[in-house]
Formats: sequence, structure tokens, C-alpha cells
Amino acid sequence: MTTVVITGGSRGLGYALAKVFLQEGCNVTLCGRTPSNVLHAVDSLSNHGQRVLGVTCDVRRRDDIANLWQRSMDRWGAVDIWINNAGVNQQGQALSDLFPEDVQNVLDTNLRGAIFGTQIALSGMLQQGRGQIFNMEGFGSNGMQRKGLNLYGTTKRALTHFTNACVAETADTPILIGLLSPGMMVTDFLKDSSGELRNGNDTKRIFNILGDAPDTVARFLAAKILRNHKSGAHIVWLTKRKILWRFVRSVFVKRDLFKD
Ligand SMILES: NC(=O)c1ccc[n+]([C@@H]2O[C@H](COP(=O)([O-])OP(=O)(O)OC[C@H]3O[C@@H](n4cnc5c(N)ncnc54)[C@H](OP(=O)(O)O)[C@@H]3O)[C@@H](O)[C@H]2O)c1
Repeated sequence: MTTVVITGGSRGLGYALAKVFLQEGCNVTLCGRTPSNVLHAVDSLSNHGQRVLGVTCDVRRRDDIANLWQRSMDRWGAVDIWINNAGVNQQGQALSDLFPEDVQNVLDTNLRGAIFGTQIALSGMLQQGRGQIFNMEGFGSNGMQRKGLNLYGTTKRALTHFTNACVAETADTPILIGLLSPGMMVTDFLKDSSGELRNGNDTKRIFNILGDAPDTVARFLAAKILRNHKSGAHIVWLTKRKILWRFVRSVFVKRDLFKD
């Protein structure tokens, strides 16, 4: 049975991925910083019986990630797929408004956390002789820039470089490393933002054209991950072709992803 570990699986896209992998018959370990979020997520997935494990883990702490790996090994005996999904944004703040601890938080979660996640999963997978590791891209991975996403984009751009470098470094091993590009989703991630990023008409207009529910994106990503057999895979939900089609469609079809 395939076993999947998802960091930041207690809410948003990570939770949606956990749900799909469970529906596909996999074992899943999910984690988050907040114990109540982890408990709530595991509880709401309990219809999948004993195939889900929740671990409180703050990816800003290397020891927590090592514990996440070990708890998963103790429970499942092997880890086939490891997804570094946990990520935070900078709440839409301009760089000049960010406190040093906000800067540290974004760097430590999005970059350091994913680097240590990759390192720990890679070491373990080399020992077991197989496995796949995926890192989560985001705005900025392709070099795009926007006010309020400066630091976030920097971490995502760096993570893409890091992942590609890992693919090259592990080319002579059986471990597959790749990137996931989930497009745009209205999750807490956006709701936690403030100012223009959260409330701006431009943001809402673009999300209503290009955005999707996390469940939709998760179904696509999980299916591709489960079928993947190569290192260096770049699994992209919002392709250029889809973007073009969405803009054409938006002339005729109006969507409101923000109503709740
Ligand atoms: N939403 C989008 O439009 C979008 C677009 C492109 C890429 N992405 C990327 O997709 C990933 C997931 O985003 P999302 O929209 O699902 O975000 P979200 O709804 O805010 O969920 C984030 C998840 O990560 C966990 N988390 C945050 N910091 C953590 C830490 N230090 N250690 C462990 N877990 C942590 C959170 O749980 P706790 O709060 O309990 O820790 C939660 O489960 C991120 O990497 C993001 O950059 C999102």
C-alpha cells in the first residue's frame, strides 16, 4: 500500500491532498503546527479508518521533521511519497512593513522547512531504496513579482532552484524528486492576507477567473503523483493554455469564489 506524508496537511491544499490520497487507498500522515488543527483534520478523515496519522510538527524545527519521518516509519514501515506543502505568506505586507520575525517565519517555513524536509526524506528513502519527494511551488516560482509577495516569491523561486538542483544531485539514485504547481486557490492562505492582496478588486477578479477549489487541484495533482515514474517531474495545474481558456471563458461565465 502506498504511503504519503504531507506537511501542512491539516488545512487548505494539504488537507485536500490527504483526502484524495485516502480515497485512492493510500496511508497518509499529515501534519501542522497547531495540535487542534491536526486533531480536527484526522477526526474529519476518520471514515478512512486507521489509514490516517496526524502528527504535530512545526517544519521550522528540524527535529520536528525528523520526528514526522520516524513516526511515519513506525506506523507504516515505509514512506513512498513525501510532499513539502506547508507554507505561509507575508499577509500581503510590503517589505518595509514586515517585522524581522515575519521575515524569519516566511523564510523558515517555506524554504528552510522544505529543505530540511527534502533532506530528511531523501536520507530515509535512500536507505529504503525508493521514494518520491515533491516541493510546492507558488507565486514567484517563475520569476513573477508583485507588491506584498516579495519575500514569499523569493522563497518559492529559491525552492524551485533547490528542487532542480536536488534532481541533478540525485540523478544516479532511485529517488524521484519533483515540483508541484497548484495555481490559485481561495484557502486560509489568501484569507489570512490583508490589504490589496486580500481585498483588492484586482485580486478578486483574477482569482475568480483563474482560481479553483483546493479539492479540484488536489485531485489533479494526486493522480499525476501516483502515476509518476520520473525524476524532475513538474506537475502544473494552471498551464498557459488553461489560463488563456479561462480568460476567454470569463467573458461569458462569471464566477464568485469569495462568497461565503
Ligand atoms: N492558496 C494558493 O492560492 C496557493 C497558490 C500557490 C501555491 N500555494 C502553496 O500551497 C501550499 C499550501 O497552501 P494553502 O493555500 O493550502 O495554505 P493554508 O490554507 O494556509 O494551509 C497551510 C497549511 O500549512 C500548515 N503550516 C503552516 N506553517 C506550518 C509550519 N511551520 N509547520 C507545519 N505546518 C505548517 C498549516 O497548519 P497549521 O496552521 O496548523 O500549522 C496548514 O495546514 C503552500 O506551500 C503555498 O505556498 C498556495
